[in-house]
Amino acid sequence: MILKVWGARLGFFLALVASASGLGNLWRFPYVVAENGGGGFVILYIFLVLIVGLPLLIGELLVGRLTGKSILSSLSFFKEGKRTRHLGNLSILVCLLVLGYFSVISSWVLFFFFKYAIALFTSQNFVSQSAITQLMEQGWLQMLLTALHITLLFAVVGKELEDGLEKFVGYLMPLFAVILCMLVWRSLSLSTAEEAMRYLFYPNFSDLNWSSLSSALGQVLFTLSLGFTTMVTFGSLLPKDTDVPKAGVGIASIDSVLSILAGMLIFPLLLGGTNREPDPLMLFQAVPEFINQLPGGNVYGFLFFLFLYLVAFGASISLLETVVSNFSENHRLSRVRASFISGTMCFLLSLIPVLATSYLSHIKIRSSNLLVVWDHLLVNWLMPLIALMIALWICYGIPNEIKEAEFKKNDTFKDDSMFKHWIFMMMWAVPIITILAIILNIVGILQ
Ligand code: PFF
Repeated sequence: MILKVWGARLGFFLALVASASGLGNLWRFPYVVAENGGGGFVILYIFLVLIVGLPLLIGELLVGRLTGKSILSSLSFFKEGKRTRHLGNLSILVCLLVLGYFSVISSWVLFFFFKYAIALFTSQNFVSQSAITQLMEQGWLQMLLTALHITLLFAVVGKELEDGLEKFVGYLMPLFAVILCMLVWRSLSLSTAEEAMRYLFYPNFSDLNWSSLSSALGQVLFTLSLGFTTMVTFGSLLPKDTDVPKAGVGIASIDSVLSILAGMLIFPLLLGGTNREPDPLMLFQAVPEFINQLPGGNVYGFLFFLFLYLVAFGASISLLETVVSNFSENHRLSRVRASFISGTMCFLLSLIPVLATSYLSHIKIRSSNLLVVWDHLLVNWLMPLIALMIALWICYGIPNEIKEAEFKKNDTFKDDSMFKHWIFMMMWAVPIITILAIILNIVGILQ
């Protein structure tokens, strides 16, 4: 018997969840929450998931299912023309830029996994601080690990093994969730847990700053993989009887719960530790230190970083797959060639975050290091702009009757209020919030 979730096979649904979740929840969410003062930001984030993330997610999945194609071909499916083509090319460029960055963070996870594997099999202690120092001082080590990560991606995507691998990672997701819950439970038994929960859930809006709206928006887009059009590719693979709006609600809910769990894991550790400063290295500092104090710590560390790496690998595959399928569909390249070219471009782009965290780590712009600046450029500026363009294209480039028929295809919503809400959010909430976020960001810079 095949298990189905809202019309999609369970394996496929889990692969979709795995592609949406991972580093964005565990590594990035706690760090941006800390950057923006805690509870007020969390409320803002959840609000944006509901009014921007969910409508866009449903939109991208619907387009994919409607056309059965990835973005470049989907664009010309409705309207031939240069302008919409630029939109496709732009979103593929974002995929490459983000993949370069994402590969570097994945390489850190891989390094921690190797370190725990060695500690486990040689019964040694793993000292996380010295591992971080080693990574940051030896840029060549990051380059090597990133190259390894990209080579593995190239092998999988070039040989078209991603379908199996994504499903494999998807089936591991429940196991990863179990380990995460066990760690959260342990973390909540620390004496700092109460203070941490107040920090995380008590909405203190006065801690928000000018760029908080764009940080929350960028985080929603990053964590739900929106604006990259990977969800269009996923949508194109959905069976016709999938209830897309419900599947969207399921993905957004699971992803948000994972982010909140990550916050519940990390903040008690931070408040108990010495480092309270928001830092992209927070996950790598706090979690291993805590894990190492637990009985059987090496086993926890080994499994945590193994699963985290596999999920990051799954997400990287969906990014590379989007680039490669668009390249090979539209430039008549073989898959292996397209994968090789994309992999090489991605490696070159990964040198930016590698240099930012190693040989150029002393350079600061307005007291932020170059990694943070690069992250904000990509996630808080570029991604909202692309997401805005995609939302406008879905609203105005695809005839309403077609969208309505596709939205209601499975007749879950007997009345058309859901469709009307969705269209309203896409036409008004997404553009207004995105433009406001960009304006506030500019004001923040000029201050
Ligand atoms: N959503 C992923 C995460 O939260 O880690 C990151 C990501 C994966 C972004 C795939 C974009 C993408 F296409």
